[in-house]
Amino acid sequence: MASSSGSPYQLLFSLTVLLLLPLSSLSADPDPLQDFCVADRNATISVNGFPCKPISQVTSEDFFFSGLMKEGNTSNIFGSTVTLGNVLEFPGLNTLGISMNRVDFAPGGINPPHSHPRATESGVVIQGKLLVGFVTTNNVYYSKVLSAGQMFVIPRGLVHFQRNVGEGKAFTLAAFNSHLPGAVVAPTTLFASTPSIPNEVLTQTFQVEEEVINSIKSKIGGTIY
Ligand code: GLV
Ligand code: MN
Repeated sequence: MASSSGSPYQLLFSLTVLLLLPLSSLSADPDPLQDFCVADRNATISVNGFPCKPISQVTSEDFFFSGLMKEGNTSNIFGSTVTLGNVLEFPGLNTLGISMNRVDFAPGGINPPHSHPRATESGVVIQGKLLVGFVTTNNVYYSKVLSAGQMFVIPRGLVHFQRNVGEGKAFTLAAFNSHLPGAVVAPTTLFASTPSIPNEVLTQTFQVEEEVINSIKSKIGGTIY
């Protein structure tokens, strides 16, 4: 009798595993093919990422970024602001599969529910006290109140938020496994897109009258987030 390790099923299983294995390495940005590829933001060709600046033009300045030093202005309806440190602001990150944001909060401020289609997020609270929460694809809500020095992780693509529940200001640094994680911000996506999502779609979705939708649109519409 033939051993089970040599059966056609075993072979099929092994082949399937071999075919699927490379997918795990595609879960974030692809691996770089050289030490660095400082983005040439002026290039006219469009590729998946940005073309590299000629090495002769690369300087130390390309690998350092001061954009996250300054506290962001939180005078907006959410009482928070996200300062981006992705490849668009910091071209040295191009193809390296990482980036970082700074989020500042006024007392009571919220970084509203949003998701990152291209990255998992890991953050550390630097100042203050934040309620950090996310919801899974099974609709389960996980959350915790964090103080300075404590970390969180938000699995890729899941809707999450942070809210300042302390007495004073707060801020957090968030790292991503993508040079351009992208953000789908629920309130602006739904109520401030260009052109707008038709009111009948929103009234039917949220089971409210049109005036409620118009009121939300008028508040969210002017938001620069
Ligand atoms: C925080 O959640 C961020 O996306 O910067
Ligand atoms: Mn986020």
